[in-house]
Amino acid sequence: MNSPTRFESANEAFLLDYPGYHSTQSLDTLRAREYSRLDAANHTYLDYTGGGLYAISQVWAHHDLLANSVFGNPHSSNPTSMAMTKLVEQARQYVAHFFKASPEEYAVIFTPNASAALKLVGEAYPFEPGDQYLLTFDNHNSVNGIREFARARGATTTYVPVDLPDMRVDEAQLLENLDKTRTGGHNLFAYPAQSNFSGVQHSLEWIAQAQARGWDVLLDAAAFVATNCLDLSRWHPDFVPLSFYKMFGYPTGVGCLLARREALARLCRPWFAGGTITVASVQGDRHYLAEGEAAFEDGTPNYLNLPAVEIGLRHLETIGLQTIHERVHYLLSWLLNSLLTLRHKNNQPLVSLYGPIETKQHGGTLTMNFYRADGTLIDHRVIEQQANKANISLRTGCFCNPGGGEIALGLSAGELTACFRQPTHQSRLTIDDFRLCIDGKSSGAVRVSLGLVSNFADVYRFVQFSQSLLNQ
Ligand SMILES: Cc1ncc(COP(=O)(O)O)c(C=O)c1O
Repeated sequence: MNSPTRFESANEAFLLDYPGYHSTQSLDTLRAREYSRLDAANHTYLDYTGGGLYAISQVWAHHDLLANSVFGNPHSSNPTSMAMTKLVEQARQYVAHFFKASPEEYAVIFTPNASAALKLVGEAYPFEPGDQYLLTFDNHNSVNGIREFARARGATTTYVPVDLPDMRVDEAQLLENLDKTRTGGHNLFAYPAQSNFSGVQHSLEWIAQAQARGWDVLLDAAAFVATNCLDLSRWHPDFVPLSFYKMFGYPTGVGCLLARREALARLCRPWFAGGTITVASVQGDRHYLAEGEAAFEDGTPNYLNLPAVEIGLRHLETIGLQTIHERVHYLLSWLLNSLLTLRHKNNQPLVSLYGPIETKQHGGTLTMNFYRADGTLIDHRVIEQQANKANISLRTGCFCNPGGGEIALGLSAGELTACFRQPTHQSRLTIDDFRLCIDGKSSGAVRVSLGLVSNFADVYRFVQFSQSLLNQ
């Protein structure tokens, strides 16, 4: 009998350490059947937070529907249009069902992506002078961007920091800020259920705590929902933006805003568009907004793709989100522990991880930088180039989460302000200018993220790749 390969031995040891992984084996069968293109091309896919992967049956099911039907624009009332409207409304109902959102409580508004859902809230939130926008440091730029709407209308923006090394929020500090509600005003609190920078999962208990103090809560669920169950019969955030391609890969170009109807009714849309009104008049100079979802869906929705959302959600339900969650948890734990043990011959650590080194309340994302034996940083762009050669898909930079990056990389407000105030940087700053400005410090990091069909071979290959960087 041949002696086991290194991979086989490592896999065996992994299974002994994580016996619960066996219960997720249906995902190996699924990967072989539905995602065989990954292994056929020897891809190591580690960018699930960037984009999820689709099963081939999702594409065929959608293809069959389109190939065998005639669909018109759902904004008309002819037979082909009504056939489409039926499927659009069915998809809407399925989204609510998937997140256990009561249709009486929540509206499901289809958008092009999570960013568009966030913009819908930002541009329509009734900020007035003295109102407040409170958010954590580790938000995606599309959440940060809401501060520009707040600023334009005289509201104050306050950031609650995340603390090193875990990159979690100091809850006492958060509650102190939440206690400063502007009575009679508008108070919006935004945070990610899972950070796309560090993988930290922030407490969902904050939703009710903030609401009890008079805040509207925007829970960015874009990075969370692919591998975690968001139960909106248990948690009741006012606004929940997400993108479907992050959950099941296909289709792109569709996201949604789940919004509590009561909170939605307080938003003031800054304009009207095709599809959002009951009546608009040119000569009468009036328009009347439609009720509920319709008032927020500008123009023709991406209607042919909406049935594919239902197909994707059903696919996740068939697999079981809990199975995906558990698999990601075991793989993350092994990966984390393995990376932490990697040391150069002189005992210098190879990897510096940003975020918690335990797996509790930690989604399947790890962000890090690599260091040489003499302690100097290996630029994340170099790591990306080398990973590309090994056919490993990972992500580098700051992942559109500058606050997370600034904390992790030790960039202070003073340094950043000095850089932005330089006369040559008044109106334009390229990423290379920025690197020069923060001289010597890293401007980014390396992120690996796990998801739906991640397996042991994926994380093993990444550890092997990391080992190749030892003793440089
Ligand atoms: C936490 C989080 N929020 C928002 C977004 C924005 O998503 P999209 O680019 O699909 O609009 C992302 C995308 O990576 C994300 O990770």
